[in-house]
Amino acid sequence: MSHADDDHEGTRRDFLYYATAGAGTVAAGAAVWPLVNQMNPSLDVQALSSIRVDVGGVEPGTQLTVKWLGKPVFIRRRTEEEIAAAQDVDLATLPDNDARNDNISAGDGADANRYLPAPTDDGLEGEWLVMMGVCTHLGCVPLGDGAGEFGGWFCPCHGSHYDTSGRIRKGPAPENLPVPPASFDDETTIVLG
Ligand code: FES
Repeated sequence: MSHADDDHEGTRRDFLYYATAGAGTVAAGAAVWPLVNQMNPSLDVQALSSIRVDVGGVEPGTQLTVKWLGKPVFIRRRTEEEIAAAQDVDLATLPDNDARNDNISAGDGADANRYLPAPTDDGLEGEWLVMMGVCTHLGCVPLGDGAGEFGGWFCPCHGSHYDTSGRIRKGPAPENLPVPPASFDDETTIVLG
């Protein structure tokens, strides 16, 4: 083999090596990009990380369901009877005696640790309950308006009963319905997020 052939062979080998390495890099890049892209929240999700909800038209004993971060949120204006039922509970009997409330650092499952405080002193304390509308068992959306054996919410998927404070009382769901970050901005506006 002549020196010229050596050069030619070397050049061809180098070319094959670089071509293969280059193809590998491109393939890896193509495989990684969709994963990275999926991890970035889309612009509409980012824009809705905090939303304002007008609750001025919500009557006692009714509920508003809004979508926040792609999930349903229940905003219920409880009656005095619902509040009384939620507070007349022996906490030792709760399957999940944890507040599950993002607005407080820690607390037991007492109703006072779950409802949204009234926006004004003359409001009925405890009437506003804001919770994620996602069953803590496998994620179905529970039925409201007094459904279930405890007068709160009922998940028909596998039979989980939540009380008027959104606490799990019976069935396979392991935890109370979580309370998301929420606050009153004025008398009739709740901010989620
Ligand atoms: S998803 Fe609600 S009980 Fe199973």
